[in-house]
Amino acid sequence: MPMTDELMACFKERFGSEGDIRVYFAPGRVNLIGEHTDYNGGHVFPCALSMGNYGVARKRNDKTVRWYNMTYPDDGVITADITNLAPEDNGLWYDYQLGVLWAFMQKGYEIPCGYDMVMVSDMPAGAGLSASASIEELAAVMARDLFSLDVTMSDCALIGQYSENNFNGMNCGIMDQFASAMGKKDNAIFLDTETLDYEYVPLNLKHEKIVITNSGVKHTLAGSAYNERRRQSEAALRDLQAVTDIKTLGDLSENEFENFADAIKDPVNKKRAKHAVSENARTIKAVSALRNGEMAAFGKLMSESHVSLRDDYEVSCSEIDILVEEAWKIDGVIGSRITGGGFGGCTVSIVKNEAIDDFKDRIGRIYKEKTGLEAQFYIADAADGARRLL
Ligand code: GLA
Repeated sequence: MPMTDELMACFKERFGSEGDIRVYFAPGRVNLIGEHTDYNGGHVFPCALSMGNYGVARKRNDKTVRWYNMTYPDDGVITADITNLAPEDNGLWYDYQLGVLWAFMQKGYEIPCGYDMVMVSDMPAGAGLSASASIEELAAVMARDLFSLDVTMSDCALIGQYSENNFNGMNCGIMDQFASAMGKKDNAIFLDTETLDYEYVPLNLKHEKIVITNSGVKHTLAGSAYNERRRQSEAALRDLQAVTDIKTLGDLSENEFENFADAIKDPVNKKRAKHAVSENARTIKAVSALRNGEMAAFGKLMSESHVSLRDDYEVSCSEIDILVEEAWKIDGVIGSRITGGGFGGCTVSIVKNEAIDDFKDRIGRIYKEKTGLEAQFYIADAADGARRLL
């Protein structure tokens, strides 16, 4: 039975079959290049995935929300009163739903009533593929439709980011919510995170596929370490602003950075800024390589991105480094890097079609030998963003 049929059946069983019941989906994302640039005023290049979170919902006549998540059946039915929402995060899936309702209300939108909802996910959580942004954008697209809110999908991305920053205490940038809200089938999104100008870039991969490898290492420390990276980048920016007129690290070319870098007092902060500047430059170059069909150049930039994230931004970990370094050794792997916030999660690789089986066999075997862990593989399918399905 397709996922939405199963979800609908579960909804009707739990909450009854009467009334206007609607179905929504919001995807996760994979970032091809442009990591830790989105809160530094740089560019990112993610695509939405065909995996994500599904939800079936119906409005209620009171101010209560009831959720049941088929992915977490042990949590049972979660109930909340939307008249009394306050920022609180227990790291649980419904905190991302609550946060978005709260964010809409903070921004002055009327949420006139509650709703009943059943959700299910077909993507891994805590794996750097933005399961949380997918839950946020599911909440946003659903509220927009159920309550006829006058918001665009890019507003929905900003609401999701606002809620994650202020309700869930994670100072993320805009990339994940933007990719989930704005994804387009067969395209990646070249987004300037400073202006939110964006272009869809067709992936047009004829001879290769995007392969995601899940290390199975959950990025539980990511919240605090992520916020720390953000503080370090901001401190570097302040030092640079004393010597040059810039708004963000994304304003600097690599040459300009070299000229001013000595203004950054702390050597760790200097490495963080070096990554942010060089990664932004790599992202711009990678998009133009892709547009010109220069896949080898694109892949090389991805691999350089990994080295920078490992050595200068220090957001990789030994398990991820094994996956990436083994991938680099395989003929037919064009590029491979860590993707997402880091400290575990997934890698993204561009692999020639004929090498994919070998890639999975070899990486799976060596990873198991070296770490005792099972790697999971997914072929990424660039897909449309958050939407109502039925
Ligand atoms: C997480 C954040 C994003 C972005 C990435 C790193 O996924 O939510 O905003 O900063 O890490 O590129």
